[in-house]
Amino acid sequence: MSERIAVYPGSFDPVTFGHLDILDRSAAIFDRVVVGVLENPGKTPLFTAEERVELIHACLEERPRIEVTTFRGLTVDFAASASAIAIVRGLRVISDFESEFQMALMNRRLNPNVNTVFLMTSFTNVFISSSLIKEVCQLGGDVSEMAPPVSVEAMRRRFAENRATA
Ligand code: PNS
Repeated sequence: MSERIAVYPGSFDPVTFGHLDILDRSAAIFDRVVVGVLENPGKTPLFTAEERVELIHACLEERPRIEVTTFRGLTVDFAASASAIAIVRGLRVISDFESEFQMALMNRRLNPNVNTVFLMTSFTNVFISSSLIKEVCQLGGDVSEMAPPVSVEAMRRRFAENRATA
């Protein structure tokens, strides 16, 4: 039987416990999950795509069925190139739903062979987002319960570097 592969696309700037939760849930459903870190030319991320990949790698340890890579362009094209049957997206709160629903329908129109699968994060991760933890971390708040230590260290380092060069 052929492998059931899913892609998990996102910005991951940086990876949080919410992302890792969704990743573990998807690995329990699919044979292989390919995390796709978007090289987003429209945004100015805190970390380069390669740094974001490294941070995710550092959290994976014993998860041989999960791969991480960067991608450009359309998510549906990334999914097709990975031979994926599904795009995984995490849902936290109801307000996520509207934009996710639009994206899922657009992606289906672009490629009807790839389904979007929404997975709900655990209750403890409901309010975690990369943008919020970056803001809190930059202002000196403790985000150690929201993101893995590698992400927290990397953010602290990057904000200190940015302050030194400002
Ligand atoms: O982590 P994010 O920022 O919520 O992820 C958004 C992402 C990367 C899934 C979305 O922006 C995306 O799919 N971008 C790739 C370009 C694309 O396919 N656009 C059309 C989506 S309907």
